[in-house]
Amino acid sequence: MKKRLVTGGSGLIGSEAVEYFDGQGHEVVGVDNNMRREFFGAAGDTLWNLERLKGRTKRFTHVGLDIRDRAGIDELFRAHRFELIVHCAAQPSHDKARDIPLLDFEVNALGTINLLEATRQHCPEAVFVFMSTNKVYGDAPNEIPLKELETRWDYARAEDFEGVDEKCRIDQTLHSLFGASKAAGDLVAQEYGRYFGMKVCVFRGGCLTGPSHSGVELHGFLSYLVKVTLSGGTYSVFGYKGKQVRDNIHSHDVVRAIEEFAANPRPGEVYNLGGGRENSVSMIEAIERIGSMTGKKLSWKYVEEARKGDHICYISNLGKFKRDYPSWKITRGLDRILEEIIASQRAQMTLSGAG
Ligand SMILES: NC(=O)c1ccc[n+]([C@@H]2O[C@H](COP(=O)([O-])OP(=O)(O)OC[C@H]3O[C@@H](n4cnc5c(N)ncnc54)[C@H](O)[C@@H]3O)[C@@H](O)[C@H]2O)c1
Repeated sequence: MKKRLVTGGSGLIGSEAVEYFDGQGHEVVGVDNNMRREFFGAAGDTLWNLERLKGRTKRFTHVGLDIRDRAGIDELFRAHRFELIVHCAAQPSHDKARDIPLLDFEVNALGTINLLEATRQHCPEAVFVFMSTNKVYGDAPNEIPLKELETRWDYARAEDFEGVDEKCRIDQTLHSLFGASKAAGDLVAQEYGRYFGMKVCVFRGGCLTGPSHSGVELHGFLSYLVKVTLSGGTYSVFGYKGKQVRDNIHSHDVVRAIEEFAANPRPGEVYNLGGGRENSVSMIEAIERIGSMTGKKLSWKYVEEARKGDHICYISNLGKFKRDYPSWKITRGLDRILEEIIASQRAQMTLSGAG
């Protein structure tokens, strides 16, 4: 029986994919070495999520393999026949990458080509989905003219209203080391689609979110914001008057997009994938909204200097994906996303005795 491979299976998107495909009756192999803990410390530990998955799935096998281990990956592909590879394992933080440039590049670029090449050698007919990022555009989206509104930045011109599309350049812009390592993975994945004709898809994510994120300051915007609001710590807002805008997509809608592509693959295509305008929110709007939903007021401080290469207003233009896959749509709005994250964080705090 053909199986599905999910790398980063204990992370936010990977775990959603594992659970979704398992629920459909597929055999799913999840590869995750809990490296998120190495990147971000105990708060980034994903073992709780792995345990949750084990309790809720029927045909899921976990493998604690490192995607940098080429021989190990090769062995895995010899042992299983995969029809779909969903590649979510990554060093996912823009800021963290500057402290660990080599490790970041090895995981995001080398790990990705290890998986692509193993797919080409062992199951070239399989669909391969690579989770890339809007950081491959570097800070080029900051060149779009903006207007300042009371609580957010927004695009000034009517033609930019729907957000950034896939034609945005990825070259000659400030990416952060993370954006550069992901761009390397993104380009090589496209090449396996275009040059080798494999069924490869590249999704350039906006803010991907959901209840299974092990949110930390350096990665997981809404999840970490909810965590600090509930636990009573102090949150730092970096630059742009707190009016920077992010578009947020629930992990379920990401997995639905993966499912749509897998059913009707277009080799080598690239799609922006985020919450779009309807799920966009600025930092100060999010603080306000979470405050009224939890009944807790966040203590936050403003740091004048923005994060290097950070986007001021980023909204994913979903037009291309919607045109190619008209059955797909956003099913979870911002309030529903926040409700789920709040419920999940409360449950975790109760379990750990903190709440
Ligand atoms: N969450 C976002 O906002 C966002 C935005 C844009 C793109 N993305 C991309 O989407 C993908 C999934 O992101 P996520 O939020 O689920 O991240 P996540 O950190 O929650 O999950 C990634 C998982 O990969 C595992 N991992 C890391 N290095 C590994 C290695 N060398 N070998 C095996 N496993 C390893 C980690 O332990 C973690 O569980 C990533 O490629 C990320 O760059 C995420």
